Amino acid sequence: MDINGKIYKDFLNRIERFQVQNGPEKIKKQHAKGKLHARERIALLFDKDSFEELDAFVTSATPDTGFGRIDEAFGDGVVIGHGRINGRIVYVYSQDFTVMGGSLGSVHAKKIMKVQELALRVGAPIVGLIDSGGARIQEGVASLSGYASIFHRNIQSSGVIPQISVILGPAAGGAVYSPALTDFVFMTKNTSYMFVTGPDVVKEVLNEEVTFDELGGAEVHARKSGVANFIYEDEENTILGVKKLLSFFPSNNLENPPFVEPKSKKEKNIDKLRSIVPDDPNKPYDVKKVIDLIVDQDSFFEVSEQYAPNIVVGFSRLNGKAIGIVANQPKILAGVLDINSSLKGARFIRFCDSFNIPILTLEDVPGFLPGLDQEHSGIIKHGAKLLFAYSEATVPKITVILRKAYGGAFCVMNSRNVGGDYSFAWPTAEIAVMGPEGAVSILYKRELQDAEDPKKLKKEFAAKYRQDIANPYIADEKGYIDEVIDPADTRNKLITAFKTLENKHVDQPARKHGNIPL
Ligand code: HXC
Repeated sequence: MDINGKIYKDFLNRIERFQVQNGPEKIKKQHAKGKLHARERIALLFDKDSFEELDAFVTSATPDTGFGRIDEAFGDGVVIGHGRINGRIVYVYSQDFTVMGGSLGSVHAKKIMKVQELALRVGAPIVGLIDSGGARIQEGVASLSGYASIFHRNIQSSGVIPQISVILGPAAGGAVYSPALTDFVFMTKNTSYMFVTGPDVVKEVLNEEVTFDELGGAEVHARKSGVANFIYEDEENTILGVKKLLSFFPSNNLENPPFVEPKSKKEKNIDKLRSIVPDDPNKPYDVKKVIDLIVDQDSFFEVSEQYAPNIVVGFSRLNGKAIGIVANQPKILAGVLDINSSLKGARFIRFCDSFNIPILTLEDVPGFLPGLDQEHSGIIKHGAKLLFAYSEATVPKITVILRKAYGGAFCVMNSRNVGGDYSFAWPTAEIAVMGPEGAVSILYKRELQDAEDPKKLKKEFAAKYRQDIANPYIADEKGYIDEVIDPADTRNKLITAFKTLENKHVDQPARKHGNIPL
């Protein structure tokens, strides 16, 4: 081919056209909103020069009915393809808001389906970079059908390949359901929002004035609804977060997570674990400090940090191997289990189990949160989800009881009886049917009624209960836990214990699927 000839020039022209799409003006507008262009986002996501685009030249199928403007652009408002992140193949679709508001027409939908199918076939994760006005109004039912087909593929891929949604602009209407079906949702503060019905409809139907941010901004979804697992200040950091998250995952459910060399040998501060739990059982401490002292240096990556912070979940590494951590947080609501923390823990456990990530549980929980609100909102069925998730998970599962393991919470939080492989306890552990105050109120009701100083007597009974009943040695002697350990030995014990479980195999009864109490 003559590189000065017509054929090659025509080829270069076309490439230039799809790169710029609707021209620099639209990209400038996008930048002015604090947003990047679809291709700039892809460049940030992948290892240098590793992105290979597919279907760059396809054209839109939106009919020109004279209703609404149609952009004559290549690609139909979405960039798709594959690239490498830390050397591993990942598929991507990145919606281009500069083409008809990134709205989803039939060709746009087919392109997304194409990478969904390829990712599933190849066994590679898929990342969706979402910035879209939703169903393309001009295409009507063709667009709705596109969404439904995408949802179906999300569900087919669930538990087979990791799926991540990154909301970098609008995600409105039914368009929110693809992200909701994926494993993790990232959002960028101030520039992204998700809602089923927008502020105009809210005003019309309920006569309530709300802003986009109040209704479905990043903070709202991170703190209140729990829809967003990660939020960041800007797009660069959001995309860095996606890359970090993927580093903990295998490419698919048949592989194991990759090994990452720990930063340094970790012996120096480990003694601090002995003094981290206060002698006073009512005093809080930060379980994240315990996590940091146990895991490989700087390896803890928290998931859903802002939602239900009375439970802490996240990915980390022990001697280079990925683990998922579920830890009660005594610093917040005494680490109590309530509806939201049960949901958060259950979903996290199910992800870990789908992708061969062993689970470490750090337990310090006074029980389930009592009260009308929790009971009426269904703590029974929601708490059961956590129990179900732990019990059905077949990955290696180890618990360390740091302090309180009372009542149903002892059973739920990965006790050996619900399938936990090893259960260790620190000498500070309190294991019993209920906390001392509750127990002595029931057992010594009459004595306390007749006492001259019931408060003092109750304190004495509670201290005796704590010493005689709620200690870890009874559970150890009777074989309900494996060992009471020195807190400073925790890291080494866990590394050894997880090593023994590397070839763990559990036979499952034949069934279509269990019926988790949704
Ligand atoms: C076609 C659309 C579009 C859409 C935006 N555009 N949304 N074109 N179909 N759904 C076009 C606009 O006409 C405009 O074209 C360009 O994209 C940029 O949009 P602006 O409104 O100028 O941008 P902005 O002010 O930033 O507002 C963004 C927005 C707004 C908030 C997303 O465009 C909007 O409200 N769009 C509609 C959102 C929506 O209700 N979608 C349907 C949801 S229902 P020009 O030519 O001016 O550049 C749904 C059903 C799915 O999705 C069901 C699945 C089960």
